[in-house]
Amino acid sequence: MRPELDAIDRAVALLQSGELVAFPTETVYGLGADAANPAAVARIFTAKGRPADHPLIVHLPADSYLERWARDIPAVAWELAEAFWPGPLTLILKRAAAVPGAVTGGQDSVGLRVPAHPLALDLLRAYARAGGGLAGMCGVAAPSANRFGRISPTEAAHVRDELGDAVKLILDGGRCPVGIESTILDLTRGSVMPPRLLRPGRITREQIATVIGVLPEIADRQPGDRTPRVSGSLAAHYAPSTPLRLVPPGRLAEVIARLGQAGHRCAVLCHSQLPDQDASPELRRLPGDPRGYASGLYAALRELDQAATDLIVVEEIPATPAWAAVADRLRRAACGAGRGTDLPG
Ligand code: TXA
Ligand code: MG
Repeated sequence: MRPELDAIDRAVALLQSGELVAFPTETVYGLGADAANPAAVARIFTAKGRPADHPLIVHLPADSYLERWARDIPAVAWELAEAFWPGPLTLILKRAAAVPGAVTGGQDSVGLRVPAHPLALDLLRAYARAGGGLAGMCGVAAPSANRFGRISPTEAAHVRDELGDAVKLILDGGRCPVGIESTILDLTRGSVMPPRLLRPGRITREQIATVIGVLPEIADRQPGDRTPRVSGSLAAHYAPSTPLRLVPPGRLAEVIARLGQAGHRCAVLCHSQLPDQDASPELRRLPGDPRGYASGLYAALRELDQAATDLIVVEEIPATPAWAAVADRLRRAACGAGRGTDLPG
C-alpha cells in the first residue's frame, strides 16, 4: 500500500514549509516536522500536548547523515548503525553544535534513527533531495503520532483519531509491522561504561550485545537523576482510558467469571486459548510469540478501549527476555490506564 508519488511530494513541500506530516515507520506512525526548524518542532509539541522539555527522535535518510547531527560519535555507534539501520533502533549521541535545542529538550544529546519502512525512507530521501529543510540538515523530528501519554498509532486511521485536523497530511502505509516503538540505546556515557538501554523494543539487549560485545545496562531511573529524559520511561504511558489489569494465565477464566458475576463488563486480551470464551464478548487473541504479539498489541488495546467496558483484563505474558519490550508496554499501560476511575474487581 504505497500512496502515489505526489503524496510524497506534498509531504516534502509541507515539511519544507514548517508544517506537520504524519508518516508510517516500521514501529509506529510518527508525527514529523523539519527537525532543524524550531517553529516546526514547536507545532509537534502543541499537536501532541507534550511537555516541551521532552526530546524528540530525529529520523535520517541514511547513516551518512549522522555527523550533521552528532559529535564524538563512538565506533560502536557505527557498528550498530551498520547492523541495525534502517531499523527500529534509536541511538542517543552527543549532539552536534548545529542541532537546535527545541528538538533535544535542551539537552546535550540527540536521539537518531534511520527507519526501515519503505514509505518513511522514500519520504526522507525525497526530502533530502529537495534540500532537507532549514540549513539542509535533512532530519525529520518525529515522535509517535498520538496525544501525549496515549497509545501509539499503528494505522493511519489511528492518527486521524488521535490528532484530527492538527496534522495536514497523513501518509498511509497500512499497518506498522513491528507495532511497538524503537529500542532506545544511550551511547553518551563514554567507552568505559556500558551503553544504557532507555527503552526496550524489537531489537533486544542480547542482539545489541552480539554486535558490540557488551550487554547494555537497563536504565534504572531514580528521581532527580541526570540521565536523559525519555517520556516513554514515565511509569504511566501508552495507556488506554479504560482501567487495565494483568492477570496470570491460570487465573484468567476465574477472574473473568467473578467480574461478570459482580455485574462488570470486561474486555479480554489473551494469547492462549481460553476455556470459556462466552464469558467475555469483547475478546482479542494475539499471537503467542513476542513479535507477533507486539505487532498487534496497540491496535487490539485501542479496539478494546473503544468497547467502553469497565475493565480490560490482560493475560500475563511470559517473564523471559524475548518478551521484555511487550512486558514494558503492558506494565505502563496498566499503570496509566483509566486514571481517575475506580478499578473494579
Ligand atoms: O519507534 C519510534 O521510536 C517512534 C517512531 C515514530 O520512530 N518514535 C517514538 O517517538 O516513539 P517518541 O517521541 O514517542 O518517543 C521517543 C523517546 C521519547 O521518550 C524521548 O524522550 C526519547 O525518545 N528521546 C529522544 N531524544 C532523547 C535524548 N536525547 N535523550 C534521551 N531520550 C531521548
Ligand atoms: Mg510516544
